[in-house]
Amino acid sequence: MTSFNLLLLPGDGIGTEIMAEVKRVIDWFGARGVASFEYEHDLVGGSAYDAHGKAVSEATMAKALAADAVIFGAVGGPKWDGVPYDVRPEAALLRLRKDLALFANLRPAICYPALAEASSLKRELVEGLDILIVRELTGGVYFGEPKEIVTLENGQKRAVDTQLYTSPEIERIARVAFELARTRGKRVASAEKRNVMKSGVLWNQIVTRIGKEEYADVALEHVLADNCAMQLVRRPKQYDVIVTDNLFGDILSDVAAMLTGSLGMLPSASLGAPDAATGRRKALYEPVHGSAPDIAGKGIANPIAMIASFGMALRYSFGLVAEADLLDRAIAGVLGKGLRTADIAAAGTSPCSTSQMGDAIIAELDLLST
Ligand code: NAD
Ligand code: IPM
Ligand code: MN
Repeated sequence: MTSFNLLLLPGDGIGTEIMAEVKRVIDWFGARGVASFEYEHDLVGGSAYDAHGKAVSEATMAKALAADAVIFGAVGGPKWDGVPYDVRPEAALLRLRKDLALFANLRPAICYPALAEASSLKRELVEGLDILIVRELTGGVYFGEPKEIVTLENGQKRAVDTQLYTSPEIERIARVAFELARTRGKRVASAEKRNVMKSGVLWNQIVTRIGKEEYADVALEHVLADNCAMQLVRRPKQYDVIVTDNLFGDILSDVAAMLTGSLGMLPSASLGAPDAATGRRKALYEPVHGSAPDIAGKGIANPIAMIASFGMALRYSFGLVAEADLLDRAIAGVLGKGLRTADIAAAGTSPCSTSQMGDAIIAELDLLST
């Protein structure tokens, strides 16, 4: 039986609560004998900072580099607002993405039929929604240098962030988007701000060239990123795959999350390039949401984004496509039966807890596989 090594990094806030539920799902698939999942836990984010003064230790980085996949909860929270910038909780996630070279972040926004009412948009706008945001994850303004706050001679301060993209960075993320579009609706919308940013001009030129030369069978449109945000709430089903840079992808995916009913529903996969010898990609799977300090410790967080992120690991890292489909059906089944955590519950109904949602997904997996 194939064995996979996972590194579980629960992190902070609701990260630990949702990790407890996804672990049960991992164990369920392990017990079913489709593969053996070995895992170990480690600290990351604020909890790691509290333990050893760094948001991620060198030992944890080494384990992450060696793992077949990292399963990541969420980091951050008001407790660490005052810590030095370089060791703040979020720095751990950025370092993991950069050092593992996870340049392609896949954020699917699917509106489960049973949740069309939970969206803040009208049912007809979101029913059947299935879009995929492909976010560039290791470049752009998140990592460009210089990145600093300097004090000028007159005592004023100046803050600088640098939006920087090279042509290979744009080419490789464009190819990921076109390849994925080929497996679904064969349409790519590329979102940038070519009207004000040089990086947007280059992005547009390169995506156009790659589309024309290598993916003539995929329809390509260009959309200004601000218009894209508006279109996502106006008529979201016009999109199939959206490819965009690191910062726009961060923002557009939070917008897309609400179309599905809740930020607590959106999973993600962060993938590196395939290894030349083995074909394997380094990968980290995490929900799109954060540590949700406002609900942390209450046992009411929605674990579906985390569990569906493991579903993406089954699909993209372990080649267990039937199992990934089974997990998706189990999530849809539980929602179809009306179970809701507070974030997706209708007013006046009584929501379930994080662990009750976990229980129900395990029970549905049992049911679907007998
Ligand atoms: P957030 O995503 O943590 O929360 C935004 C809102 O969505 C909150 O009202 C929260 O309760 C709700 N929410 C999020 N996930 C939910 C879930 N699973 N179930 C139910 N409700 C959920 O964003 P924020 O409040 O802006 O950020 C809080 C902290 O998290 C910050 O420190 C931020 O930097 C960090 N953050 C981390 C990650 C990550 O680790 N990947 C992502 C985003 C934000
Ligand atoms: C996300 C988060 C992160 C980002 C933060 C926590 C660094 O918001 O994954 O969407 O901005 O990329
Ligand atoms: Mn974000």
